[in-house]
Parts: sequence; structure tokens; C-alpha cells
Amino acid sequence: MSMSVEDCARSRQGFPRPVPDTPTNVLQQFQLQGKVAVVTGAADGIGLSVAEAFAEAGAHVALWYNSNEAAVEQSVRIAEENGIKTAAFKVDVSDSSQVQKNIIKVLDTFGKIDIFVANAGMGISEPILEQSLEVYRKQMSVNVDGVVFCAKFAGQVFQKQGFGNLIITSSMSGHIVNVPVDQPVYNATKAFVTHFGKCLAREWREFARVNIVSPGFFDTKMGAGDSNINEVYRMSALGRQGHVKEVKGLYLFLASDASSYMTGSDVIIDGGYVLP
Ligand SMILES: NC(=O)c1ccc[n+]([C@@H]2O[C@H](COP(=O)([O-])OP(=O)(O)OC[C@H]3O[C@@H](n4cnc5c(N)ncnc54)[C@H](OP(=O)(O)O)[C@@H]3O)[C@@H](O)[C@H]2O)c1
Repeated sequence: MSMSVEDCARSRQGFPRPVPDTPTNVLQQFQLQGKVAVVTGAADGIGLSVAEAFAEAGAHVALWYNSNEAAVEQSVRIAEENGIKTAAFKVDVSDSSQVQKNIIKVLDTFGKIDIFVANAGMGISEPILEQSLEVYRKQMSVNVDGVVFCAKFAGQVFQKQGFGNLIITSSMSGHIVNVPVDQPVYNATKAFVTHFGKCLAREWREFARVNIVSPGFFDTKMGAGDSNINEVYRMSALGRQGHVKEVKGLYLFLASDASSYMTGSDVIIDGGYVLP
């Protein structure tokens, strides 16, 4: 039942909350000096680009990877190029104990976590009638369980610290039935994490912000393949896939004080794919 006008007129203790003490200069708002960020799926693709963006803005970065050992070299290069601290951690996000242990390792190495980007994912493009239950479970274990485990254990740290910022990489496929390849389980995993992130924005309102990025096709290992590349060019209003350098600004915005009044938002960055 909604509240009456009289109920609504009653002031609530502690409100309005204070405006955060952030810079007024917009370029200063984008700075991440002294912040510590964790990025999952950081060896390549969108995650690597996000790790670079944060380091370029002054943050120390923990690069989480699963199988791609290139993360170790990338971590060293990013630290040298930007004069910040980095470390690479091998973590299978579908294994809750690995996630939990490595959050503690990040705290041991960096002392805190300001920003956590739950970006790791896998894309299995199969119709459900052709998909084995084992493959279905694998898809769910990375895209859904992986995000839930990262959020749960990073969220515990945020709650204890009294601050934090979670960014989830979802997909436009959580909004649309992506065409032309049938991939219902992948699409549904992304719908899950988008809604999950919005729910966390409320649950964690006293200590952390949570936002979601929903990319369209980006030219990475998970981008368009031979079977759909022509349709991707046709569907995207900009007529191409995104380059990973084109997501850096959005993740930096969400990670920084420039977005201090944003939580629970889901930002589509897709070259206009979902417009029609
Ligand atoms: N590219 C696109 O068109 C597009 C569109 C919408 C959404 N996305 C989303 O963007 C995110 C990043 O994908 P991307 O395009 O950058 O492709 P990518 O380069 O293939 O990145 C996927 C990353 O996920 C990691 N990963 C996979 N399974 C994992 C596991 N069990 N534990 C930990 N990490 C695991 C991989 O790590 P290793 O390589 O170390 O195994 C890899 O770094 C994904 O969540 C994807 O769904 C991509």
C-alpha cells in the first residue's frame, strides 16, 4: 500500500544525506589516484582495456585472469607505463573458494578495494534444443555464479570498509533477443546479472554504488564471428563493432567520482544496435 500524503510529509531522520566531498572540476572527478581496482577477465578484450583505463587515471589495479597467462605480462607493462602498482591473480570465478581466497590476497597486497569490475564471462552461442545440460551449467557457472560470487565477497569487503563500487559487465543481450544466432542461455545469464546489479544497488545503498555496463558487439574474442558479422554491421547504426578503447571512458566514469549520483544504472554501449 502506498503512503498517504500525511505520511510522506513527515521528515526522515538523516535525510537529505550529505553531498559527497568530491571535486567540482570535472576532469578531477575522473581521477582515480590512490584507488584500488580489481578487474576480472583482465588478460584481454574489454577487461584489459578497463584495467588500462583505471591505471591511466591513477588507480592501482589487480588483474584477475582464468587461463590467459598474458595477464601477467600485461600487469607488468601497465604498472611500468603508468607508475602505479599492479598484480595478476589467477582465479576461476566459477569457483567460490578461489574468489573468496583471492579477494583476501588482493587485500593483503593492496590494503583495500575501492572498485570491483565483474567482467569475466563466456559466450556459448547454442540453441537450447542443441545444448547439453553440461554446457548449460558451464555457461551459468561463469556468467551467473561468477558474478554472484565476486559480488558477494567484494560486497562483504565494501560493507566492512564503508565504501565500494561494483561494476558488472552485462550485455545488450540481456535486453534483446540477440539475432541472428540463437543463444538463449547466454542472453538470459546477462538478464540475470543486470537485474542482480540493480538489486544490489539498493541492498548496498549505505556503503557502495553498483552499476551495469551492457555492451553491444565489440571486436574481441567474444565479438561477432563469421556467422553473424554481416548482420552485426547491418544492425549497428554505426555500421561496425566497437573497439575496446571505446569502452574505457564509460567504465572510468562509473568507477570515478564523475558518477557519484549514479547507482543501479544500466548503460547500453552498442553503436545503436538495439535501436530498431
Ligand atoms: N565482445 C562482445 O561483443 C561483448 C558483448 C557484450 C558483452 N560482452 C561481455 O564482456 C565481457 C568480456 O568479454 P570480452 O568481449 O572482453 O571477451 P574475452 O576477451 O574473451 O574476455 C572474456 C574473459 O572472461 C574470462 N573468463 C572466462 N571464463 C572465466 C572463468 N571461469 N573465470 C575467470 N575468468 C573467466 C576470460 O579469461 P581467460 O582468457 O584468462 O580464460 C576472458 O579474459 C564478458 O562478460 C562478455 O559477456 C562482450
